[in-house]
Amino acid sequence: MGRGRYPARLKVAPPPPDLAARYLRVWPARELYNHPDAFPPLSAPGIFGNARPLELDIGCATGDLVLALAAARPEVNFVGLDIVAKPLWRAVERATAAQLGNVCFLQADARLACRQIPAATLQSAYIHFPAPLLRNRQRNQLLIALPILHAVECGLVVGGRLSFMSDQPALYEQFLTLLPAIPRLRLLPPEEWSVSLSDLIKSHYHRRWEARGRPILRAELVAR
Ligand SMILES: C[S@@+](CC[C@H](N)C(=O)[O-])C[C@H]1O[C@@H](n2cnc3c(N)ncnc32)[C@H](O)[C@@H]1O
Repeated sequence: MGRGRYPARLKVAPPPPDLAARYLRVWPARELYNHPDAFPPLSAPGIFGNARPLELDIGCATGDLVLALAAARPEVNFVGLDIVAKPLWRAVERATAAQLGNVCFLQADARLACRQIPAATLQSAYIHFPAPLLRNRQRNQLLIALPILHAVECGLVVGGRLSFMSDQPALYEQFLTLLPAIPRLRLLPPEEWSVSLSDLIKSHYHRRWEARGRPILRAELVAR
């Protein structure tokens, strides 16, 4: 069974300047690589100008997870990060419709943007249903990459959580093999998960693969 239409093919227009200024940041890869100091830290003060807790969804696509979390927990800031513009434009439409004041979307390559996360900044990070390697041109986009995991390991506050989910057993195994390289994060048994699998707010791909009967594999890790 195919994995569905790639979100870049969505029919959606860029947000008008006022909404883009409110909800969208674009960090172009070349500038971010060459001049990281020209970009703010990926932190609550850097993105929202306040000191609320921050949660980050890496590879958020149309932002279903962060939008639902932001509506449920207005006291927390949420950033949805994705490399593709169109899903984020759709996410901005939804944030606008819901009048959310605690969410922002960041168009950037996670491998570079995660370098901007200061130590002990994140309350939670999510990597849910990262795409497997579908085509050669996506080879460099794999989100299960040590630079990203190291940045999350360092960026989480003590007690902060990383949630990983996949419908791909091989990808899930690959994630587990990288855990010895991020020893500050401890893999939790299911009985210690912050939210049980059945109570989790579901992302777009979580709903999609669950509806198709695919396995839903989860790992939750806590920072010590
Ligand atoms: C299969 S979608 C999963 C979306 C969402 N997490 C969910 O569960 O519904 C994977 C997303 O990761 C994004 N992505 C892939 N490589 C990325 C990178 N290097 N930096 C940021 N986002 C990336 C893709 O653009 C895509 O939107």
